[in-house]
Amino acid sequence: MKQYILLLGLLVATAVPVLAAAIIVPNTAQSLERGRESFASRCAECHGRDGRGHVEVIADAGDLTEPLLYRNGSTDEAIDSSIRDGAGAGMPAYGNELKNPDDVGHLRNYIKSLWPADKRPPIEK
Ligand code: HEC
Repeated sequence: MKQYILLLGLLVATAVPVLAAAIIVPNTAQSLERGRESFASRCAECHGRDGRGHVEVIADAGDLTEPLLYRNGSTDEAIDSSIRDGAGAGMPAYGNELKNPDDVGHLRNYIKSLWPADKRPPIEK
């Protein structure tokens, strides 16, 4: 029994920092604007400017406007990981290019601004 408790403790100790890894970038109008610009230049070629992946698509990039359809999870941590480390067969990793962690946060804020109104986080001042 003791071993199991120890193992559980170890699991929690390793999982907590990983789960807590989402970058906190306030969801302000400035952040959304920076995310929009970055998305247009880096991501729109596969995801479409509107994130729906229907137009201009090269690969099957899914639909970023509906979190329920995300194949790799739609929590902040999961989205950050898809952007930083890549996802599935066709999503490239941007961890090397986006050196400033805030850049990932701006992109995530922008992507979430494309979600349905009732799931979209409010814009902060
Ligand atoms: C070369 C084409 C391509 C580019 C460029 C690209 N993506 Fe993707 N992206 C994909 C594909 C394909 C998938 C689906 C991966 C899968 O099947 O799991 C994807 C998945 C994702 C996901 C996860 C969605 C889900 O279903 O879980 C996110 C978030 C994402 N992309 C964000 C971005 C962002 C932000 C950028 C720009 C920095 C970007 N992508 C650039 C092709 C691309």
